[in-house]
Amino acid sequence: MERNVFDDAYLGDLSSISPDKVIENISDFGIVTFSVDSGNARHALVGLAQALGEIRSHPHSDRDGATSIAPRRDNDLHPGRMGFTQERLLPHTDASSMASPPDLLLNVCATRAEHGGETLLVDMRSVLTQALKTNPVALERLSAPGTVIFGTGGFSRASSVFAVRNGRIHVRFRQDEGVFFGAPVLKEALELIGLVDAMTVRMSLEEGQGYIVDNHWWLHGRASFAGPREIIRILADVRADRSGGVGETGFPWHVSSTAQEKIRVGTVG
Ligand SMILES: [Fe+2]
Repeated sequence: MERNVFDDAYLGDLSSISPDKVIENISDFGIVTFSVDSGNARHALVGLAQALGEIRSHPHSDRDGATSIAPRRDNDLHPGRMGFTQERLLPHTDASSMASPPDLLLNVCATRAEHGGETLLVDMRSVLTQALKTNPVALERLSAPGTVIFGTGGFSRASSVFAVRNGRIHVRFRQDEGVFFGAPVLKEALELIGLVDAMTVRMSLEEGQGYIVDNHWWLHGRASFAGPREIIRILADVRADRSGGVGETGFPWHVSSTAQEKIRVGTVG
């Protein structure tokens, strides 16, 4: 039976959750789930995001920094606007083509779909652990700078799937029109796509239920759906000067100094 992610990561009602506890759990597990009075969900989520750090504004966000993710009648199937359709979104890192993707993704369900629309989640620490069992150079290769291009059309950025910094690994991953894997990492990228698919967990959110993930650790997506589903989304960065300690993003990982050096210089051959 599939693990119940919502219950495992549940911290309680948003009105009683301490921001310090959220940061602590995000640093340890990369994910937190919560519930909130659905009439107050947007306001409460904005308040928590401000307590955790800085809200990252987005071209589609409103003045409070939150974005309503719901089907829009005038929408096409443009890659950057797939969120505003009823289509499936394969698990991905948000804003993967930016120089620094946001640290946190906060999502709360405002309106549940009639059918489908389950949240898809992938723990990339588990995926990497699994990948290394069959391919010991997977991390080294997929950390080489410039081996993956993220973006579409006129805007793109050469980067890598993994980046190792201070004993933690930051992930950038997607598998839609917004990514191009270079030939030297194609084998590893295909293996990773298979593992991401096999290790995706589904979470069905009721109205007023939500989650926060470390965008450098967990991938998120959604199943296709029918009906007027609405999710309120906030992207945020953990603020370095917040009281109560600073949570670290990305997942902890022991890298030997030899491996670290190989990764740093981008050895892929
Ligand atoms: Fe997303």
